[in-house]
Amino acid sequence: MSGIPHDHYEPKTGFEKWLHSRLPIVGLVYDTIMIPTPKNLNWMWIWGIVLAFCLVLQIVTGIVLAMHYTPHVDLAFASVEHIMRDVNGGYMLRYLHANGASLFFIAVYIHIFRGLYYGSYKAPREVTWIIGMLIYLAMMATAFMGYVLPWGQMSFWGATVITGLFGAIPFIGESIQAWLLGGPAVDNATLNRFFSLHYLLPFVLAALVAIHIWAFHTTGNGNPTGVEVRRGSKEEAEKDTLPFWPYFVIKDLFALAIVLLIFFAIVGFMPNYLGEPDNYIEANPLSTPAHIVPEWYFLPFYAILRAFTADVWVVQLVNWASFGIIDAKFFGVIAMFGAIAVLFLVPWLDTSSMRSGRFRPMFKWWYLVLVIDFLVLMWVGSRPTEGIYPTIALIASAYWFGYFLIILPLLGVIEKPTTPPATIEEDFNAHYGNH
Ligand code: HEM
Repeated sequence: MSGIPHDHYEPKTGFEKWLHSRLPIVGLVYDTIMIPTPKNLNWMWIWGIVLAFCLVLQIVTGIVLAMHYTPHVDLAFASVEHIMRDVNGGYMLRYLHANGASLFFIAVYIHIFRGLYYGSYKAPREVTWIIGMLIYLAMMATAFMGYVLPWGQMSFWGATVITGLFGAIPFIGESIQAWLLGGPAVDNATLNRFFSLHYLLPFVLAALVAIHIWAFHTTGNGNPTGVEVRRGSKEEAEKDTLPFWPYFVIKDLFALAIVLLIFFAIVGFMPNYLGEPDNYIEANPLSTPAHIVPEWYFLPFYAILRAFTADVWVVQLVNWASFGIIDAKFFGVIAMFGAIAVLFLVPWLDTSSMRSGRFRPMFKWWYLVLVIDFLVLMWVGSRPTEGIYPTIALIASAYWFGYFLIILPLLGVIEKPTTPPATIEEDFNAHYGNH
């Protein structure tokens, strides 16, 4: 596919020409920040920048925290207390890092749901989407291992429950679990390897983000109408786009400033709001907390994990058909990973010819229910598995799969989309007048 026609970097001075013929790095930066960007992008397109900020924040605060942290079961909890009390600004570093993880996940969920509404995953942006999903997986692994490091009660028991899931895999599960933990139970070997990987993974994330950006710079950004930038001539392309610098940089920085205003208020005034009080008790392998709950950003998938118990008929059927190999616990694990796997497949599950949800009258409603469904799963994941909660979790889990595996493929066939504007320019002028 041909790119969007635009100005390219031309080296002017002698030094620039000398460098450009040896390492065209200035050209790369120039073309990246001057990339023509659809001029009708709305506020849902700011979250990529918020995410990029979060990654940098986590790496910088994490590196300084690591200077004072000790990855040993006898010292980890005390070293975190030492950071909070003795290290200059240490409490702030820690709270920035802990709440930074939450901001990271808020931003990534909005970013993903933006993509799901505007069909950002559709051709030709499937690779951008797949890299995004890999980023999401790496984020979850990083956050999970990071949470173990303070060696509080929830760190220990969360790690025990989640690594225990691998033990549910038939035949080889227990060996995998022992290999992951570095022993028969969560212990010093586990803490050490989690620390090592928790330090490494953000740099893998950074590399994935670079590829993510490369991918959508190759296809060009999408936009709320789903109509592509005209590529026939430079004049036409210029009517649909504006250079990223300065227009979108200023817009994104303004949005980031507002997000950070709220973020710093939380870090400063209610830093433990999203945390779990039990994690201020040192890990004790002999005392299990009454409720083991993961961090809020894992709750939807935790709810799906717990939803499929032995008294659900689908579970019984699969158990029977698999000669008992797939029991309820393993079924739950498959469901949890399956709930993420369907997100990977969404570019191919959505059969609609219309990209943006804005012009899909039926899709809009099903999508709205999906957003509510995700929030319900998050809430029910924090509840105990008794009373009405397991039923709610089961219905909400069924909708999650139903949406991706049945509704999306079917809607593309039965729905009649409305007419989108012919060009991005037309959409822009309809909103902001003819400038
Ligand atoms: C560290 C995490 C991430 C960073 C830093 C990041 C960064 C960005 C940026 C800067 C953009 C362009 C502007 C915008 O749309 O906001 C973008 C676009 C996009 N991202 Fe991400 N992203 C991340 C994670 C994800 C994830 C988890 C997904 C979903 C699977 C995803 C899917 C997409 C898609 C499909 C686009 C293209 C949308 C368009 O241009 O219309 N990203 N990303």
